[in-house]
Amino acid sequence: MSLGVEKFGKEEEKQIHFIYKNRIFIDQLSENLENHEVCLLGWVFRFRDQGGVIFVDLRDRYGIVQIVFEESHFKEDYKKASSIRNEYVLAIKGLVKKRSAETINPKLKTGNLEVYVKEFYILNTSKPLPFGLDEYSEVGEEVRLKYRYLDLRRSEMQNAIIIRSKMNHSIRRFLEKQNFLEIETPVLNKSTPEGARDFLVPSRLSAGKFYALPQSPQIFKQILMTSGFERYYQIVKCFRDEDLRADRQPEFTQLDIEMSFVNEEMIMNLMEDLWRNVIQENFGISLPDPFPRITYKDAMEFYGTDRPDLRFEMKLIDVQDIAEQSDFQVFKNALNKKGRVKALCVKGGGILSRKEIDDLTDWVKRDFRAGGLAWLKYEQDGLKSAISKFFSPQLLESLAKRCNAEVGDIIFFGADKEKIVNDTLGNLRIHLAKKLNVIKENQYACCWVVDFPLFEKNPETNQLESVHHPFTAPKEEDLEILYDDELFQKKGEQIYSRAYDMVINGIEVGGGSIRIHKEDLQLLIFKKLGIEEKEAREKFGFLLDALSFGTPPHGGIAFGIDRILTIFLGKESIRDVIAFPKTQKGMCLMSGTPSEVDIKQLQELRIRVIKT
Ligand code: AMO
Ligand code: AMP
Repeated sequence: MSLGVEKFGKEEEKQIHFIYKNRIFIDQLSENLENHEVCLLGWVFRFRDQGGVIFVDLRDRYGIVQIVFEESHFKEDYKKASSIRNEYVLAIKGLVKKRSAETINPKLKTGNLEVYVKEFYILNTSKPLPFGLDEYSEVGEEVRLKYRYLDLRRSEMQNAIIIRSKMNHSIRRFLEKQNFLEIETPVLNKSTPEGARDFLVPSRLSAGKFYALPQSPQIFKQILMTSGFERYYQIVKCFRDEDLRADRQPEFTQLDIEMSFVNEEMIMNLMEDLWRNVIQENFGISLPDPFPRITYKDAMEFYGTDRPDLRFEMKLIDVQDIAEQSDFQVFKNALNKKGRVKALCVKGGGILSRKEIDDLTDWVKRDFRAGGLAWLKYEQDGLKSAISKFFSPQLLESLAKRCNAEVGDIIFFGADKEKIVNDTLGNLRIHLAKKLNVIKENQYACCWVVDFPLFEKNPETNQLESVHHPFTAPKEEDLEILYDDELFQKKGEQIYSRAYDMVINGIEVGGGSIRIHKEDLQLLIFKKLGIEEKEAREKFGFLLDALSFGTPPHGGIAFGIDRILTIFLGKESIRDVIAFPKTQKGMCLMSGTPSEVDIKQLQELRIRVIKT
């Protein structure tokens, strides 16, 4: 047997093809195959040359097994075996043997077996890797992303990508059974107002004009309802040019869904069922039945955010009435300006040092524009800090009682505009729960947030904006406010929408709504958003027309697949569940994207780049 690495003879090619055809996967090896000849294909994970015998851990997609090369068997070809290094690609035929009791490797599923190689072919060699596949944590993420093809060989990454594929299959199985159709929608689009910046693609055939990559297939899926498909889904890439965070990617994957003749309950119930099934099937985790519901108002009041983390209590507490009676100017100023004073009682938070409290204060000032972060520690002789002098003993007692505080706790205060107080204490709540290990592992707190406002005012422009998107239906009972200009002036921001968000562990994993299905109401909503009919027809004429041709009542939702995987795989970053993710700066370090393009390409598109 001659084993040229670069070139195989005809006979060897035949043998290799025999191995391809007859190979078994490593996890198929079992004691039943003892003394049988098997064909395996894989990569060298580790090798040990013991002089006269070489041990190699061979790895394929399914597992790792020890294979053994004996000099006594190979004679001349043993030299070739000695040249084997990590990550070489091998095809082997060999005999399965049970290992003796003292050599069993309990860390491997196949640790009780080994395969004595009878014939082998080096299908490819490998340069030494820039990082060992079992030492990945010692290299930075940049290196991992640059050599993503190697990083993806690690079992942790393999597992994430395999589960991702399986989860997509489960989703499809469930939805197909429920009569959903998988329908593709275009990627080169007119922009839809999902709230982020669009990625634009210049058109060559209509020079000077641009396509936008879809932020979501929102309008198309609604139009599919007009066309009568009734139940649509798609696992689809969406593109948003926004500032990236740990749970955001510029291109990410949605499970996008739309249904006709449904109300909120029907959609929420079906979607709960979907996720209970899919998560049970792929992670063995039972989600609650039903998911609890919380109104937007309560979420903001008690958790300071519309995506409450319900794995732990630690609610924000209104202390306005107590603050009013104190002499603390910071509280008084906030209340005079119609702001709020709320407290956050952190159990066992008394252990926080002055330095730690100062750092937290700097953080909330910087990130949430808080004026500061007042606090009181419950010590043996009551609530104490530099501000306790502004409160009578009775008031301090009322505070302690209201907050359920005990010795060893700390109470933080936010006193400002409502939004600042909620941002500050809501984020502090999460931060301290993590820092003080309040959150137990493997907890999954799902909920629906409902009763969102339809509009919110942009404080900079003073213009009303959609809390979800402009196609979201208002609640029936609030329609009269919409149609009455005077009432709208007063109560416009109090109109509720028919939207719902799904939140797990404080992360928004999905959002949707019942839609507007009538042209006149859609035009009115655009108008309230500052889009007059002429502009509305220019931008969304096709949707408005569709609504005028018998569009059925409909609604839907979209889920962030990457986020859901991140949660249930227990990952820190969304990048760890995506085969080829982008960095915080939107770059692919492996391929060097984005990159400059040839001047000829720009000329064809009639584009000139302005260098800054
Ligand atoms: P929405 O904008 O809420 O709704 O998006 C739906 C879900 O997609 C996920 N998501 C993201 N995941 C990763 N990176 C991002 N940059 C990113 N942005 C959003 C979130 C979010 O809940 N068309 C509507 C849905 C509808 O109304 O049916 C929409 O896109 O998990
Ligand atoms: P000062 O009166 O500015 O020295 O602040 C006294 C305490 O109140 C300090 O702990 C500040 O961090 C805190 N503080 C100041 N402004 C606010 C605010 N708007 N909300 C909560 N705490 C504040």
